[in-house]
Amino acid sequence: MSEIVSVEAPANIAFIKYWGARDLERAIPLNPSLSMTLRACATRTSAQVLGRGMGDEMWLVGDGGLQPAGGSFRDRALAHVARLRAWAGRDEGVRIATHNSFPASAGMASSASGFAALTLAVVAAFGRDPEPAELSRLARSSGSGSAARSVLGGYVEWPAEGSGAGAEGAAVQVAPASHWDLRDVIVLVQRRPKGVSSLQGHLRAPTSPHFATRQRLLPERLDRARAAIRERSLAQLGPVLEQEAIELHLIAMSSVPPIFYWAPSTLRVLERVRGLRDDGVPAFATMDAGANVHVICEPGHEPAVIDALGSAPGIDGLMRDRVGEGPRRIHEHLLGAEPGGTGV
Ligand code: DP6
Repeated sequence: MSEIVSVEAPANIAFIKYWGARDLERAIPLNPSLSMTLRACATRTSAQVLGRGMGDEMWLVGDGGLQPAGGSFRDRALAHVARLRAWAGRDEGVRIATHNSFPASAGMASSASGFAALTLAVVAAFGRDPEPAELSRLARSSGSGSAARSVLGGYVEWPAEGSGAGAEGAAVQVAPASHWDLRDVIVLVQRRPKGVSSLQGHLRAPTSPHFATRQRLLPERLDRARAAIRERSLAQLGPVLEQEAIELHLIAMSSVPPIFYWAPSTLRVLERVRGLRDDGVPAFATMDAGANVHVICEPGHEPAVIDALGSAPGIDGLMRDRVGEGPRRIHEHLLGAEPGGTGV
């Protein structure tokens, strides 16, 4: 048996959203995006190369130990393992175990951290150590575009293909986590997974009459977001990230057929965030393709945000997160050394 490699990769929250794909299967975006890599919301994955002729194994770490993965997650993950194997020019099977630090039932997108962790663990188990740009492209080829950003820490930009910015198709770091300590108070509004996948959303986005307008406005908005990060100005960044979130949902709601991700409590939380600002607390809300709200603020204002939102009616809990440094190798393995054994 070869060495077990274990990796932790974080989720990320987009300030400028990837919404609409030129090529959905390879996750080639129609527009650039910009995100903050998180720290607490992360996926841990262990990988071990098996002998030749052995099939792949995919395990989830649950309460009672390892359980075989099933359903569409398993299919997508194994298809990605096959892609990584072909890239590495290898033919052995791989044994994988994975675990999310945040509850899978929390309605939080876990595919960015999941596919970033899977990519990094399998590539390392095959003994390869590619440049970050190649890792970003490999993570993206899973079909989860946001995974392209999760292989890097801090503030990360993923240019649209053909824009001439950065390595083609790969995300690049705009600033490290140490540059600016931003906090993300995640307000859980709905724990169940969203009804319509992001993949469907990307597909339908260009059917919205507002899609073309958004594409026209994005370059200037991206410049403003990048400059705000450089200057550590939440007064500049906040309105941009809030506008982006609302526009993503405007496009979803006006796509054909329409997609409604918001729940009634989403609006109540947004109202509270506006109320916080009226009381002099600079906090700004963003949402991915779901009902949960990420409230971005600086450390000094985090207690006031938690206080105001923890008691909002109809919410199902809060999670505290912050900008993080990106993926790392870990030494606690989720697999035991022998087949079927667990290291947890
Ligand atoms: C709204 O195709 O990366 O989060 O694989 O489900 O994470 P998942 O979706 P993906 O699209 C992400 C859409 C978004 C915006 C963003 O993260 O840029």
